[in-house]
Amino acid sequence: MKLINLSQILLALTAIAAGANLHARNIAQYNTIPLPHEVEAMPGRPFIMGADVKIAAGQGLENEARFMADYLSSGLRGFSTGDIELRADLEDSNPEAYTINIDGDRVVINGASAAGVFYGVQTLRKSLPSRLDADGTVELPAVRIYDRPRFAYRGMHLDVARHFFGVDDVKTYIDMIALHGGNTLHMHLTDDQGWRVEISKYPLLTQIGSHRDGTIVGRTGPEYDNIPVDGFYTRDQIADIIAYAAERHIQVIPEIDLPSHMVAALASYPELGCTGGPYEVWQRWGIKEDVLCPGKDATMQFITDVLDEVMDMFPAPYIHIGGDECPKTRWKECPDCQARIKELGLVEKEGVSPEAQLQGYVTAHACDVVRRHGKSAIGWDEVLECQVPDDAIVMSWHGVTGATEGTKRGHRVILTPSQYCYFDYFQSPDGPDEPFAVGGLTSVEKVYSLEPCPPEMPDSHKSLVMGVQANLWTEYIKTFDHVQYNVLPRMAALAEVQWVEPDKKDYENFRSRVPHIMSAYDAAGYNYAKHIGDVKVHYETDRDLHALMMTCTALPGYDIRYTLDGSEPTVGSQLYTGPVALDRDCIVKVNTFHGDGIPGRAVCDTLGINALTFGKVSLVNEPYYVYAFQGAPQLVDGLRGTKYFRTGRWLGFSVKDVDATVELDSPATLSTVTFNTVVKPEDALADAESAEVYGSSDGHTFELLASQTYEPDDPKADHHISGHTLTFEPRTLKKLRIVIRPVKKLPADHPQGGWPALLFIDELQAR
Ligand code: ACM
Ligand code: ZN
Repeated sequence: MKLINLSQILLALTAIAAGANLHARNIAQYNTIPLPHEVEAMPGRPFIMGADVKIAAGQGLENEARFMADYLSSGLRGFSTGDIELRADLEDSNPEAYTINIDGDRVVINGASAAGVFYGVQTLRKSLPSRLDADGTVELPAVRIYDRPRFAYRGMHLDVARHFFGVDDVKTYIDMIALHGGNTLHMHLTDDQGWRVEISKYPLLTQIGSHRDGTIVGRTGPEYDNIPVDGFYTRDQIADIIAYAAERHIQVIPEIDLPSHMVAALASYPELGCTGGPYEVWQRWGIKEDVLCPGKDATMQFITDVLDEVMDMFPAPYIHIGGDECPKTRWKECPDCQARIKELGLVEKEGVSPEAQLQGYVTAHACDVVRRHGKSAIGWDEVLECQVPDDAIVMSWHGVTGATEGTKRGHRVILTPSQYCYFDYFQSPDGPDEPFAVGGLTSVEKVYSLEPCPPEMPDSHKSLVMGVQANLWTEYIKTFDHVQYNVLPRMAALAEVQWVEPDKKDYENFRSRVPHIMSAYDAAGYNYAKHIGDVKVHYETDRDLHALMMTCTALPGYDIRYTLDGSEPTVGSQLYTGPVALDRDCIVKVNTFHGDGIPGRAVCDTLGINALTFGKVSLVNEPYYVYAFQGAPQLVDGLRGTKYFRTGRWLGFSVKDVDATVELDSPATLSTVTFNTVVKPEDALADAESAEVYGSSDGHTFELLASQTYEPDDPKADHHISGHTLTFEPRTLKKLRIVIRPVKKLPADHPQGGWPALLFIDELQAR
């Protein structure tokens, strides 16, 4: 055992803690994030941690002991008697398992490996308060903790190609992963907009490919910012990152995204493309038709050489070879590609084109190169579009489909389903307060709700699920502060998906533990999103009362107060004590108040009750899956959407008509139907093309009551709500059918010209 005496390291602090043991008021809290598998309170005295605590490290655990010492010195303001003993002789089938046993005399962390000890150290440090009150000592109640991760692969991805982040930022990102029990950093090193790793055989990749002159403003411009973006990692810097990560039991997986997303490489070596260029490092976002030309031997050699060098640099057993979003446009026209297709005898088979099979040829080649190094290739789930070598690992990002299909075909899989794991998506519905983002809505709660072994996956396939990862694409993320904001605290929810067994997951319990890990973020100086502290307001339809039942939850220690007249809640407003029935038009505002009377951020909803509200609604066509939220009932749920369309109040449709039939609670005499849409040209949100209203007085046969055709939007229109009213002679009706047609193809002068519009609809109303 090697003893590190912290009183020697922290001489300056011992005076503060002198005589401290008698009045410890800081108490360790073991329900950390991720929640340990078993936490059992034990009888007996607590351990008092104060001045001169000693860390006893078993053979080979000096690294873990040093972390323990560092965490204590930076996180605590005093130390005292007693020992922390680190051992690695735990017998457990899971090599990352650990136990922590604490009594009045000592703290023992025992791991099944050094990694297990490291996770025990993490749990212990997270158990301690980040700031100490009173005398600077901490009381650690006697306890027995047993923990092990559910999944062996626990990843976080960082796109350093779209915007570059230097070595220090990457190290901080690694620290953030370590804090959350992750063990993998996936670095997306190459893309159309930048090549970020030095390759000695192809020096132009970084001389030319690591620079772009500017970046498009917003999603589609037309302006460019003309601010150059530069940067790449040298071999030494990569080695530095890998060593830093390894100390924290984190493997670094490099991604060379091929054969698509390769414009930066083509700008450097145009001869590797089908047309020969010239090409420029791309300043826009999206999918480019220019990809590597697998018809040329030089390209296949390039793939071999680059992967060889990358594997030389990165010791991880996995290399990511990309494979996503590869248009086949150029290959169809390219004589070299067509000659290759002929040479390989590729013909259309079971609906898979020869060009799609040509991508399979590239994937198989890359897998071969990787296999020769005794490693396995990981590919995005598009690799399943054709035959793929058995040892390839599939990274499922199109929902969980890549995982279910991949495991069915015997592949190991990693889940990164975009709806749950894309941390570039918005994390909160409130538009004006949020930094610009790619789209979508992935709240902390949504991340938490991911079950990586979906019900449709047979039990026999589940052992092929290696684990879970979240991805951070950085098209719209230029600073590391913004990286942290997007990742924290969603990474905390991810950690529980990665570590905690499904039967122990409980979102409200998790939420109550988040403030504690946020204090660790504060102590480390991390930027993070705070929406989880906002009051959560939930509405349930009560048909008997013809009302919405409002329930509210807040973090422990907060009062909830509300108003119904649109005024700001104050400490004098109505105190929320239980569900509230809302049965008339009103503007609800709810907020939380801590003991000091300082409010959080108010939640506001507008409620409107009419003949259609709470009716039975059915849709012929489903909404677009990204904006399907709670589905059809939302159209008549009494809750109106504001112009921010990701709030869950709106339903988004694309291409297919909104074709809704609403059965009224009881027949009503009606003469007006209204609905709203959202117009936002830069996001392809356009007003309806036309609308029709049909009525049925017998509940079976319908007649057309009103119809309208709408002018196309002004392509320069500001983001706004567009309201529509259709009127007809008064009728007593049992059912209404409302058809609203989206624009199928936006006109050429529209910012999203040529694409189908998104049609957002809210609150079908009738009077
Ligand atoms: C991806 O999001 N294109 C993997
Ligand atoms: Zn070609």
